Amino acid sequence: MKLTTENEDDRIHIMDDDVNSTELINQLTINGTINQEDPFYIFNIGDVIKKHQNWIEKMPRVAPYYAVKCNDNDVVLATLALLGTSFDCASKGEMSKILSLGVKPDRIIFANPAKSKGALMFAKMMGIKMMTFDCETELQKIKSLYPDASLVLRIVCEAEIAQCALGKKFGSDPLTEAPKLLKAAKQMGLNVVGISFHVGSGCKDYPVYNKAIRYCRDLFDEAKGLGFDLSLVDIGGGFPGDNDKNIDEVSMIVNDSLERYFPDERVQVIAEPGRYYVASAFTLVTNIFSKKNIMNHSTNEPDRMMLYLNDGVYASFNCLLYDHQVVKPILLKKSNHHEKKIKSTIFGPTCDALDEIINNIELPVATDVGDFMYFENMGAYTLPVASPFNGFPLPKIFYYIERALLEEWFVLPIDGEDYVQDFIGKTIDSISV
Ligand SMILES: Cc1ncc(COP(=O)(O)O)c(C=O)c1O
Repeated sequence: MKLTTENEDDRIHIMDDDVNSTELINQLTINGTINQEDPFYIFNIGDVIKKHQNWIEKMPRVAPYYAVKCNDNDVVLATLALLGTSFDCASKGEMSKILSLGVKPDRIIFANPAKSKGALMFAKMMGIKMMTFDCETELQKIKSLYPDASLVLRIVCEAEIAQCALGKKFGSDPLTEAPKLLKAAKQMGLNVVGISFHVGSGCKDYPVYNKAIRYCRDLFDEAKGLGFDLSLVDIGGGFPGDNDKNIDEVSMIVNDSLERYFPDERVQVIAEPGRYYVASAFTLVTNIFSKKNIMNHSTNEPDRMMLYLNDGVYASFNCLLYDHQVVKPILLKKSNHHEKKIKSTIFGPTCDALDEIINNIELPVATDVGDFMYFENMGAYTLPVASPFNGFPLPKIFYYIERALLEEWFVLPIDGEDYVQDFIGKTIDSISV
């Protein structure tokens, strides 16, 4: 079968066996059927399914509410809806997108502590009751617009090391502000049901989950004294998602902390993982379309190579700026270890000098125009932010799934809901690689 990325948005390819992504990229690029002008992603839907299986196995007590902001691709969302996850939405747009998949409003948490009136009214109209708050202004807004909402108080408990800290924008101090907010909510007659936190995205300090869960326990007790009967702990996001990382260590800490501080299984525990579910499922394939050698005039040899890729910081690599990601290029063309290497800078395609992807990387001197470079772990905080600035098209997506996983998870509609159609409604093609 001829492989192509034309019209890929309408197709999902079924693979008979587990697919090696390098082989797939080779297939998609060597026969010239790919439009080499444009970057593209390969998206392994099965990777998302395996992540979900792993989550259930490692943290059976913690219900995942996928953070839509991380990657709102339609197939990602439909797959997760089919798998039965719930969703963390931050805006009216995200809520309506999830509802349009047939997901029931009680599978959504409106987890943006600072909400516009319009979004709050939309949540009310659609019956989305669960939402976070972290200050009195929000309590007053909720009191006047949606007084019977189920409120989750967000506290700050920051990891010492995280890719993206969130605490300077959201959350109340668990020792000073949070008790006052519980009192204020009580006085307003509002319904607080739980406590939430986010330790920071790309967290590298897992014991912080224990500290944050302990704060939740203290606030449960504080709330009880005020006459609340809290029943929900929301442990937020922060879980690793790259293909060389796992959740073994963090899940042990979370499970132990829950057992210690919330032994009563009637307390519902949820999380808002984003990166965990999607980072490793997407691999970005780019092409070098120009090259400039910076010459050393005394040796007449190049000192440095400047390579220009067809994707850059205004599109997929916005993750360098906004998500503080570190990306690692892999050359599709094999080079041998003895090949001479040269210091190189990799730029994106736009006319802006800010559009620099990597500086000072050693690459084989023979790397040239037309060569493909791919980047693994590109599924988190890339696509939703990408812009076609300067007229460069956004990458297309080549969707694929292993047959065994498709049959295991998606043969029967769950609850008879028709979002199965949205997923399977794409043309399904079989290919063998
Ligand atoms: C409120 C909230 N929940 C969940 C997430 C997802 O975090 P992560 O991708 O680290 O799992 C974010 C990310 O910014 C967030 O702001």
